[in-house]
Formats: sequence, C-alpha cells, structure tokens
Amino acid sequence: MHKLLVVDASGRVTRSITRRLTRRFAEAWRAREPGGAVLHRDVGLEPPPPVDEPWIAAAFGDPATRSEAGRAALQTSDALIDELEAADAVVIGAPMYNFGMPAQLKAYFDQVIRVGRTFGFDATAAEPYQPLLRARPVVVIVSLGDGALNPGGALAHLNFLEPHLTTCLGFIGLTDVTFVRVGFDEFQDGRFRASIAAAEAEVDELAARLAGPLPRLAS
Ligand SMILES: Cc1cc2nc3c(=O)[nH]c(=O)nc-3n(C[C@H](O)[C@H](O)[C@H](O)COP(=O)(O)O)c2cc1C
Repeated sequence: MHKLLVVDASGRVTRSITRRLTRRFAEAWRAREPGGAVLHRDVGLEPPPPVDEPWIAAAFGDPATRSEAGRAALQTSDALIDELEAADAVVIGAPMYNFGMPAQLKAYFDQVIRVGRTFGFDATAAEPYQPLLRARPVVVIVSLGDGALNPGGALAHLNFLEPHLTTCLGFIGLTDVTFVRVGFDEFQDGRFRASIAAAEAEVDELAARLAGPLPRLAS
C-alpha cells in the first residue's frame, strides 16, 4: 500500500491557496490509488514546538546514554521523522511569509532535520554530512502574494523560500523535488487566475504520475 504524506503549513484555513491545492493533489492521488493511505500533517494548525535546550542536548547527545527526559524531548521529532520515512511520496503546501517559509514550517524542518536520524555527521570525513533518508518524490506547492518573486520574475532575487526548502529537503536526502507555483494572490487579477489554473493542471498531472509505481519526478 502506498502512502502519501501531506504537510500543510498555511495559517489560513478557509481561503488558503496552498491548502486548496494540496487537497486537490491528495484527492487526485487517492482517485488513482484507492487502496493508498493519505496521512495529513497540519503544521499550520498545530505547529511543532521550536527546538529548545532539552531537545538540542538530547538530539546531539549520545543516543545510547539518552535519559528518559531526553527521549521525551525528542518525541515529536521521532514521530514526524517516522511518518516522513514511511511516506512513498510527500506533498507540502508552503506559503511565502516574509520572503521565506512560515515559522511553523521552519519548526517542522527543525524537528525532522536531526543528526543520526535524517543526516549523518562525521567531522573527520571529506564530506562530513550524509543524507540518511531514501529519496522519494516531493511536490512543493508554493503560493505568493506577489508572483514577481517567483523564479524568472522581476523580484526573484527576494525569494528565499525555494532555495531554503530545496536545501532543507536535499540535506536529508529528499532531492527529487518539484515545485508548483501560484503567484499574485494579493492582486487577484488575470495573472492570479492564470497561475492558479496552471497550478491546478500541474497538480492533476503530477498526482496522476505519482500514483502507482512512483517514478522519480525531478529528473
Ligand atoms: C504573514 C504573511 C507574510 C507574507 N509575506 C509575503 C511575502 O514576503 N511575499 C509575498 O509575495 N507574499 C507574501 N504573503 C502573501 C502570501 O504568500 C499569499 O497570500 C499566499 O497565498 C499564502 O498562502 P495560502 O493562500 O496558502 O494561505 C504573506 C502573507 C502573510 C500572511
């Protein structure tokens, strides 16, 4: 049975474009994979806690001597990593907030990017960092108030969302990333309508390609 993990990060519920498109993706995927499982992780409505001193001490300490309190501090991280590991494909709804990702999505990545679980570190190696997750397709649906910040636009140099997401995902082994982009939410004009129509078509096409034998997307 294939598993799709949906991560939503928008603070909005009723008017969210990223939620509308992740839902569309999941429905299209389920239509093609009736026996598949969709797991919904809503970090927009239930943000993971920011990492704190007990978390950091436990995560970077020796797992063999980890205390009960240390294990408790890593409980959320363990659960989020477990579900990421179990997923055959991942779709992430990522609004742009102040040129980057929403704090709740950054909190999610702070919980899942963990030494010994999702990346390895060897200070003596020529390449000290090793991704530990097996590659699986990731679709990231981004929405922006001003579409000029999307790649190719006049303000693209202000877009820290995509490079940051690509780096975070790639660091733990998720290098097969496809972006679906919506722009101009703040303008609600023809450019917005055209970009959301194009995004809907892309979502349908990607969901159909991802259901079934799970081919790589990015290459
Ligand atoms: C707190 C906040 C910050 C935002 N910052 C930006 C920004 O830096 N650049 C931009 O183009 N749009 C920005 N927007 C607009 C959102 O990216 C846009 O409305 C997007 O559609 C939000 O995703 P959602 O529809 O899934 O909620 C911001 C919106 C909010 C609420």
